[in-house]
Amino acid sequence: MKIVFVGTGYVGLVSGVCFAEFGFTVTCVDKDKSKIESLRQGKVPIYEPGLDALMHSNVKAGRLFFSDNLGEALEDAQVVFIAVGTPPRYDDDHADLSYVFAAAEEIARLSKRYILVVTKSTVPGGTGRKVAEAMRKANPDLEFDVASNPEFLREGSAINDFMHPDRVVVGVESQRAKEIIDKLYHPIKAVNIPILYTSLESSELIKYAANSFLATKIAFINEIADLCEKLGADIVDVALGMGLDKRIGKQYLETGPGFGGSCFPKDTIAFIRMAEQANVRSRVVESVVMSNDLRKYRMAEKIFDACGGDVKNKNIAVLGLTFKPNTDDMRESSSLIILPELMREGAIMQVYDPQGMHEAKKLFSGNITWYDNAYAAMKNADALVVLTEWNEFKQIDLAKVKKLLKTPLIIDLRNIYKPQEMHKAGFKYISLGRETV
Ligand code: UDX
Repeated sequence: MKIVFVGTGYVGLVSGVCFAEFGFTVTCVDKDKSKIESLRQGKVPIYEPGLDALMHSNVKAGRLFFSDNLGEALEDAQVVFIAVGTPPRYDDDHADLSYVFAAAEEIARLSKRYILVVTKSTVPGGTGRKVAEAMRKANPDLEFDVASNPEFLREGSAINDFMHPDRVVVGVESQRAKEIIDKLYHPIKAVNIPILYTSLESSELIKYAANSFLATKIAFINEIADLCEKLGADIVDVALGMGLDKRIGKQYLETGPGFGGSCFPKDTIAFIRMAEQANVRSRVVESVVMSNDLRKYRMAEKIFDACGGDVKNKNIAVLGLTFKPNTDDMRESSSLIILPELMREGAIMQVYDPQGMHEAKKLFSGNITWYDNAYAAMKNADALVVLTEWNEFKQIDLAKVKKLLKTPLIIDLRNIYKPQEMHKAGFKYISLGRETV
């Protein structure tokens, strides 16, 4: 079966490569000619563990192609996935669906025979039906179906998430379309992973509801961490004690400097707007967004306080800039709030991130020096801040850190070290929701 992906962003590229790995012939299409050229040359535009190797092996096997010509790619394809961006709209934060509709109309105009159009982009409930209307208008003679198939890939573990998902959700309303989807996901069904078939609207809503719920868990545990600090409790124990209750579950209960990334911040806001439009007030998710936004500023204050309420001309080393480890993605990262807040108060930043610095350099200005390793970044610093929990920071040589820092002060916003070990190693150690030692 031949598959086309429209959009070679994160979702389109990872999913396209993975379907090729399943044995299908996949063409990833993008309007951006230079991006396609660079993909043809074998360059992967994002850092995602395992993607590089999988992309190259599938290109070599003759199953994966890149093109800027949608008409040509559609020629003998049975199914086309729309995986274009749905960023917040500039003026009202609604999900901007213009790229989705533009892609759907173009597919309708260029298709010569039956085609199944599957929306992978995150879109509000009701969009699939509007996509079908737009396609009907663009080409009244075309036979087609529209389906919704949201993705739940996490950056940094996207390949594994695609190959071994908890479930696949598909909104589909015709037998013909369902049969195609069944074939596409046969390798997943074969290992007993559930494929949940729903209406278009339910499928669309599942994605927003799932992301908003996970974001709620994070915002909730962050507030519990604040409470732990005041009451002398330990957030790691509290989260575990909660998480062992199967009704709650252990995942997404790790406290941190506030969630970021390309999905949670965008999808929670779009969820609120979608609910408003349907005349439903979404007070829980509204609070989550507010709590998470404020948390990023509170984290800057925490560092400020740890430095004795004065960071002017102090050198602050920062380990990690990306919104999470194993990605080069800086979108909505807490570092984008925390660093400027500290620089505004006169701090001098010494930073290092294993993958994110290329992107980060475009986003920060001010008193920042960039280093190519963690130890170099912390030399003579008045404090060390851990912002992203990259594995290499977990294995750091504490004796070396102690020698390099001017003041042995560590503020760990990811709780990657153990307070008692840090105390023994001679640091003042401030983390989240745990004792300061
Ligand atoms: C998320 C969803 O998990 C995925 O299903 C969806 O398709 C896209 O959005 P992603 O943004 O890649 O994936 O990262 P994720 O691992 O979910 O983390 C999102 C943010 O939450 C990060 O900033 C992370 O640091 C934070 N987080 C996550 C916490 O603070 N605590 C946790 O326990 C988990």
